[in-house]
Amino acid sequence: MSIRIEPSILTADFANLEAEVRRIGSADAVHVDVMDNHFVPNLTFGPRMVENLQAVSPIPLDVHLMITDADRWAPGYAELGAFSVTFHAEAADDPVALARRIRGIGSRAGIAVKPGTPLDAYLDLLPEFDQLLVMTVEPGFGGQSFMTELLPKIRAARAAIGDSAVWLQVDGGISADTIAQAAEAGADTFVAGSAVYQASGGLEPDAAIANLRRLAAEARHTHA
Ligand code: DX5
Ligand code: ZN
Repeated sequence: MSIRIEPSILTADFANLEAEVRRIGSADAVHVDVMDNHFVPNLTFGPRMVENLQAVSPIPLDVHLMITDADRWAPGYAELGAFSVTFHAEAADDPVALARRIRGIGSRAGIAVKPGTPLDAYLDLLPEFDQLLVMTVEPGFGGQSFMTELLPKIRAARAAIGDSAVWLQVDGGISADTIAQAAEAGADTFVAGSAVYQASGGLEPDAAIANLRRLAAEARHTHA
């Protein structure tokens, strides 16, 4: 099973995003947190910024929409050329129809669940998706602590996904201290913001990525 490391630019320097994304050339994708100050109590950026980033990024864009009314807005991000568009289950009226629209435009479709949202209602829908994002912090801010109480949820998600093509992504508090637990529980796609852009020991982002990748691969190799 492949391991993917997708740094979040939430902790990067927003005034220099082109330079910041060039610092993570070894990553599988750049994770782009779109927040609308309604679905979450924080505001980041919208389609125009994503379009500009898409134009200069050497790696694919993994867009994480933390916005209400996903049905209305998500397809626009696919039209900008995002590699992957993930919307929140809590913010979509018709997740299956929306996933089909996103895939029809040519992007991978992802569905995200907040820590308090049970997976049960969504497991049957997984064939309609390319990625399931299990949030491991309350969405809204970088730099929070990984919620270890969500490890059983990651395990349940892996049990439902099995070895199908759906990627199991985790986001929030992923660091050199926590990535092995998440990998052991079954995650294969790891978002890390502060652990890449503000890595301890002053590690450069690409070195932090290599370290996270090694730790995740070792954990999956040992326990898979
Ligand atoms: C939180 C965002 C995350 C955030 C992760 O709402 O979805 O992508 O950037 O940041 P860290 O890795 O610092 O927890
Ligand atoms: Zn995110």
